[in-house]
Amino acid sequence: MSENTDLSIFGEKLSQGSGILDLMNDLGEAVALRPDMLMLGGGNPAAIPEMQELWRESAKSFVADQVAFDKSLASYDAPQGDPSFLKAFAELFRRRFNLPIDSENVAVVSGAQLGMFCLLNLLAGRTSDGRRKKILIPASPEYVGYADMGVEPDLFVACPAKITYPDPNDLTIFKYAVDFAMVERVAREEDVAAILVSRPTNPSGNVLTREELTKLEELAERVGAWFIIDNAYGGPFPGIIEDAAEMDSVFWGKRTILSYSLSKIGLPGLRTGILVAPPEIIERISAITAIVGLANGSFGQRITKPLFESGRILDASREIVYPYYHKRRANAVECLRDSLKRAGVEAKLHKSEGAFFLWMWLPELKSGSTTLYQQLKERGVLAIPGDNFFYGLDRIQRSEMNPSFDVSRSQMLRISFSAPEQIMERGFRIIAETTAKLLNTETLKR
Ligand SMILES: Cc1ncc(COP(=O)(O)O)c(C=O)c1O
Repeated sequence: MSENTDLSIFGEKLSQGSGILDLMNDLGEAVALRPDMLMLGGGNPAAIPEMQELWRESAKSFVADQVAFDKSLASYDAPQGDPSFLKAFAELFRRRFNLPIDSENVAVVSGAQLGMFCLLNLLAGRTSDGRRKKILIPASPEYVGYADMGVEPDLFVACPAKITYPDPNDLTIFKYAVDFAMVERVAREEDVAAILVSRPTNPSGNVLTREELTKLEELAERVGAWFIIDNAYGGPFPGIIEDAAEMDSVFWGKRTILSYSLSKIGLPGLRTGILVAPPEIIERISAITAIVGLANGSFGQRITKPLFESGRILDASREIVYPYYHKRRANAVECLRDSLKRAGVEAKLHKSEGAFFLWMWLPELKSGSTTLYQQLKERGVLAIPGDNFFYGLDRIQRSEMNPSFDVSRSQMLRISFSAPEQIMERGFRIIAETTAKLLNTETLKR
């Protein structure tokens, strides 16, 4: 879109186009116009029959309760959310994970995406005393959906993740880690409002270790920043994470803000997210909700409330969602490796520790993952090129960047494995074949 000087800076910044807009448009278009497209691109969760049954059952009991149903549909909630839902959520987290929270620490938002938009712009940007506060991303690449959220330009300052190899004998599996020397330095040099991580990380499937979380929380405390953990995929719900211990505890510190979502457990259509934070943050988030949306949709809160009250949401995550994705992950890794091997493609995969994406690095690729993405789309497969996940890095000098990290930025593809197994397998085969063809063409051109 071209620049329009009649629009406000806010209007121009938010409407000029973004990676997440392209991604959502591609998804929407593919769903509507190309039903044959193999969808390995978006963030849609898998359709797990037992969970679908649970949602139908929960919706039925809600509809059957005539008084509650009529009241719920015919009235606005308070901007913070339905008080009984907030209470059920806070009590469950207090009872099961010892979180020192109450209803006043919880706010419902119309999807974690909108919640994060409100939160990041609440904390960072220009202040009345002229400072420019930043959101620090300690381990780039990070979720593309944050990239354009800033109402102010340059909201993010990101540090490249360290590329490590968990098994020195197998260089086809890598794992990102926080480069604390660099993060500490950037935190000293910038006015940091908050440190932000998604855990498990979208796109890489990385899960920052508890030690990394503790160090980041300590750093946040030291520099007077907040530490935001986006748990869209994590424990204790929805439970799309490999380490079972993550289902038993919730990380919490003095400066921690937690974000949750009902989307990845199977309800993206209900647009319900939950923020857990100190009351002074919750009050402000609710105040923003009142302005931008009056209140949140109530259906997600109403049909899940009994599950938060009884704790069944945790049992369903542990007993249904967790094993489902555990199995799918193992199959996906094996199937992709197998397809790549058959096609003779050399690739590295990020260690798949959570979320439902494989993050594939093609170290031989010269023409960039966007070229590969276009060719895949032509062949009926939607996967996401990695470039858009590496934002906020302008502040880091190229000379400070590990050369492998630097080149890798245009060699990554994010591939979802939440689609039905046959679609995934066909898609993986096409990805491997298309990549092989592209790499061969590049070799011939040289
Ligand atoms: C890391 C992460 N955070 C937040 C969201 C947004 O979740 P919601 O559907 O609740 O807006 C997503 C969606 O893909 C995500 O991947």
